[in-house]
Amino acid sequence: MERTINWGILGCGKIAHKFASDLLLVNHTKLLAVASRNKSNAADFASKYGANMSYDNYEALLSHPGIDVIYVATPHGLHHEHVMHCLQYGKAVLCEKAFALNSNQAKQMIDTAREKKLFLMEAFWSKFSPPFITMMQQIREGRLGEIKSVLANFGFIPQPPVADRIFDPALGGGTLLDIGIYNVFYALSVLGKPDMIETSMTPASTGVDEQCAILFKYNSGAFAQLFSSFTTQLPTEMFINGDRGRIKINSRFYTANAVVEFYLGFMDSRELIPIAETQGWGYHYEATHVNECLRKGLTESPVMTHADTLLLMETLDRIREKWK
Ligand SMILES: NC(=O)c1ccc[n+]([C@@H]2O[C@H](COP(=O)([O-])OP(=O)(O)OC[C@H]3O[C@@H](n4cnc5c(N)ncnc54)[C@H](OP(=O)(O)O)[C@@H]3O)[C@@H](O)[C@H]2O)c1
Repeated sequence: MERTINWGILGCGKIAHKFASDLLLVNHTKLLAVASRNKSNAADFASKYGANMSYDNYEALLSHPGIDVIYVATPHGLHHEHVMHCLQYGKAVLCEKAFALNSNQAKQMIDTAREKKLFLMEAFWSKFSPPFITMMQQIREGRLGEIKSVLANFGFIPQPPVADRIFDPALGGGTLLDIGIYNVFYALSVLGKPDMIETSMTPASTGVDEQCAILFKYNSGAFAQLFSSFTTQLPTEMFINGDRGRIKINSRFYTANAVVEFYLGFMDSRELIPIAETQGWGYHYEATHVNECLRKGLTESPVMTHADTLLLMETLDRIREKWK
């Protein structure tokens, strides 16, 4: 019989709702307690997802007995503070993306988890989802030949009421850390660390990027062209182009229900690659993985490693350095 893993949720916003509803799909898993800054929000959240306890402050959650892991679902600008707090209380953590505001913060969080021998993982859910796994398998099997380019776009117009975190610099606002991060993550997964980066952005009135264009260049000759926007509705699709074949992932390429198509040549050679149907939103894949890591006593995921998180954060730093 598998050991039940007891979860806590810190911050009861939009993504926390989706994650908590998917947690109900995972066997031998219990949402033990949740915390919100708002008492009735915490109580409503707890009753909706069957948590035993709700708190109106984050600190109280950290002292709740029996929690194995805390899911940090606050805006990225607060991840460093909240994760460090969880670690100081001896709790394992699954922290939403973007993991931190910059790589210095990320390093500190990872170093602290290592020192304290506590599990810490960035909640990069796409890496655990069937479309991403299928895409990587096709590439590894050589079906695309040598990868020459990755083209990705991700854009939507935030609808009112727009959450503070979308445009507030202190909370990590801007497209890059919120949605452009997916473009960057997929490009890194397929082509690795870029040898050169060119980029430009359009600032919103708060100074954060409301649109951003990025070009990764590789000594091999490969390119990644990445675009994110809060001012236009984009198809949010991705193309991975090799010298033998190409893959198109749409729509909303980063989700668990994305469609993966393989093309040998032109449009008439389209092959739909079958993907296991996903229940819920698709956050249960990462939650199941965290449970498995904890049962094995691991302090780092072998799938979404600390090195993956640091490379991602360092690349996001390199992009923003270019914007000055
Ligand atoms: N993996 C994914 O698919 C995905 C999707 C969306 C977002 N995310 C990530 O998840 C994080 C949260 O995003 P979200 O869309 O859930 O945001 P959200 O709806 O604004 O929720 C964030 C929650 O953080 C808490 N919080 C604490 N201090 C805050 C402050 N100063 N300002 C605003 N909120 C504060 C609030 O919860 P309480 O009031 O309950 O304390 C708030 O509801 C972000 O890092 C985002 O990038 C991931």
